[in-house]
Amino acid sequence: MKKENIFVETYGCQMNEYDSDRIINSLGANPVSDAKSADIIIVNTCAIREKADHKAISATGKYQKLKKENPNLIIGMSGCVAQLYGKKLLKDIPYLDFVLGPRGIPKLPEIIKGIKDGTSHRTIETSMDVQDVFDVNPYHQEGKISGFVSIQQGCNKRCAYCIVPTTRGNEINRPMKDILEESRILISKGAKEITYIGQTVNSWKYEKLKFYDLLNHLQELEGLERIRFTTSFPRDITSKMISSMKNNNKVCRQLHLPVQSGSNDVLKEMNRTYSIEWYRDSILKLKEAMPDLALSTDIIIGFGNESDNDFEQTMNLINDIKFDTVYSFKYSVRPGTPGEKMKFHVPDKVASERLQILQSRQREITLQSNVEKVGKIFNVLIEGRSKQNPDDLFGRTTHNKVVNIKDIDAKNIGKILKIKIIDAMQNSLVGELN
Ligand code: 5AD
Repeated sequence: MKKENIFVETYGCQMNEYDSDRIINSLGANPVSDAKSADIIIVNTCAIREKADHKAISATGKYQKLKKENPNLIIGMSGCVAQLYGKKLLKDIPYLDFVLGPRGIPKLPEIIKGIKDGTSHRTIETSMDVQDVFDVNPYHQEGKISGFVSIQQGCNKRCAYCIVPTTRGNEINRPMKDILEESRILISKGAKEITYIGQTVNSWKYEKLKFYDLLNHLQELEGLERIRFTTSFPRDITSKMISSMKNNNKVCRQLHLPVQSGSNDVLKEMNRTYSIEWYRDSILKLKEAMPDLALSTDIIIGFGNESDNDFEQTMNLINDIKFDTVYSFKYSVRPGTPGEKMKFHVPDKVASERLQILQSRQREITLQSNVEKVGKIFNVLIEGRSKQNPDDLFGRTTHNKVVNIKDIDAKNIGKILKIKIIDAMQNSLVGELN
């Protein structure tokens, strides 16, 4: 039987990218890059901010025309917007065939079958009470150098602004043997680097094992050259985790550690459960153990009562720590979160101004960090053809910096090579074989 063509449009975090690959694999379908040639179209959505969810809903609109041309086309919405609005989406979007929450992916084959044979029509699957959340492995393209493996679903933290516990449910940790098994599948298909993902990845525990034990076991995987993991939660950084990272020759020198704010008052309102002193101290310990560790973070601007003084403390933090990258967002009120009930909100104009100040300062810091790399030599894992110029290849340093490389043969894809940095851009480096 001919495989069906599937087109998945993905929004949001790495978890969603991973889920899109699970969607593809669950159906054994053939992924296509052009929606016009698809038998099934799925928009895998993100609800983290209001803009993201509007974008995802309007993205679905562009496929209505294709459905008119081909009535057999199946169109579905998955991900966090699907989970959040459920039934309402079927009502508002008349050409939508199904709505599927993040925990429902193992049920997708059944849903598609029902729609095709007419036994079900306009299906909705948003149950949170699902035991087999990890049952479907992701599609991994043969020869792809870097891939994701999920180690955790959902989140047990209750940050006041965040919708993830609503859309993805409570934390469920994946058994280590399944993590190892999926890693081996990726490696057998050519992956050299795996990023282990979860909402608070370093809170992973399973039976007697903790996250640092997992790192130690992952190091043993034959053929795996690099290990990354994201996203870490500050309060779950432990000295054992730091020493395991330090002594693990596969763990990259990169850590994404969202701080959200530099002010204790705001952190408290956010219910982040750590103080800024704790955060700074963790960074000190990490840097002491791994002086070349590259750090990145997330910051929310304009949450709750954030004052000029609170904002100044956030600016002090980014000036002191000098993150390689800061992902910063204006606070967006999300339905059903504790933040929704807060009375005071920073006026939009003020939040926009603060965001602009922070982003423009951070651009300088990021560029400075890139410029400092010129003339130095780094081990770069070559991943594929450069997006800007297909004659060049690209790869990443252990610090997760993208390097575009000129005059290099494509047979080097998959190798770790010594690359000399010859130029620095805002978001990437340029290098040549040393
Ligand atoms: N508004 C703005 N940003 C948010 N984030 C999470 N929820 C919100 C929200 N309601 C940001 C946080 C998080 C990142 C993935 O998105 O910084 O770390």
